[in-house]
Amino acid sequence: MENRKIRTIGVLTSGGDAPGMNAAIRAVVRTGSYYGLKVVGIKRGYNGLINGEMEEMSPRSVSETLQRGGTCLMTARCLEFREPAGVARAVNIAKVFGLDGLVVIGGDGSFRGARDLSNSGLPTVAMPGTIDNDISCSEYTVGYDTCLNTVKDAVDKIRDTASSHERCSVIEVMGRAAGYIALEAGIACGAEIILIPEKEFDFDDDILRPIFEAKSRGKKHAIIIVAEGIGGTLEMAKEIEAKTGIETRATILGHVQRGGTPTVRDRVIASQMGAKCVDLLLEGKMNRIVCMRDGRITDVDINEGLEMTKTIPEDLIELAHKLSV
Ligand code: F6P
Repeated sequence: MENRKIRTIGVLTSGGDAPGMNAAIRAVVRTGSYYGLKVVGIKRGYNGLINGEMEEMSPRSVSETLQRGGTCLMTARCLEFREPAGVARAVNIAKVFGLDGLVVIGGDGSFRGARDLSNSGLPTVAMPGTIDNDISCSEYTVGYDTCLNTVKDAVDKIRDTASSHERCSVIEVMGRAAGYIALEAGIACGAEIILIPEKEFDFDDDILRPIFEAKSRGKKHAIIIVAEGIGGTLEMAKEIEAKTGIETRATILGHVQRGGTPTVRDRVIASQMGAKCVDLLLEGKMNRIVCMRDGRITDVDINEGLEMTKTIPEDLIELAHKLSV
């Protein structure tokens, strides 16, 4: 397993935080220590790499982090890193600090940074940490399950009050340009209507008609889950109220979806993926993305991974539709 070229590795979290990032950092630090590597924690994502904000971590540095949301290394979105000069500076600083390899935990934008570093000569392995589940080469991203459970808890509560008042509730969830959170949370919460950017909708056919149908079938509420990529949630709620005469409230769940103690699924997958990143660096397999494919933790070339596409499961869209009657 051991490759003598790799003695010191860095680890950073980048982009929006996600529950389970700490479990991933812990796995990197402890797997690295297990194999006798020096592991350096880089603060505030690529900003910390560019500015040399690093400190050596030991297995004890990550004690009591497994159960915590957020990221103990902190995170940021780094504009400077989008420019070639920023990447060149980062590669140079990595050399100064003696980094032989780097683990990046983050989303799509962070992967592009990891690819640029790899292509500029710093062996880098990335793993998906984002609530959005929108990484094309991976069936799963760390943080998604915890986020879904947070949304489920919130929507269940909103449903109680929506039923009592016989109202429509329009609930906006995160996901950037992707509808995974909306779709799966919508199914889990029995939403009457789910709107996602991947599927066009018609206001009359796909919103008003199902609301009237739900009412005529004796439903006391209508829950409408809207992915943030659709936009205009507040206006939509007003329009529904105006056109149906049913009192309608809008809730934008916001950043509550990014916090909280990670679920078992997120802790386990983050631990597996974090450890796999270190294994890959030690095996001399650089410039990879650790991902889930066919339910297994595996890896793909970073350039190829970024070119892949992923489509939202049509069968889930259909299921949501069938079950909303
Ligand atoms: O990528 C995670 C995410 O929470 C998206 O769902 C959302 O669009 C975005 O980050 C919000 O970013 P910020 O925390 O910078 O407002």
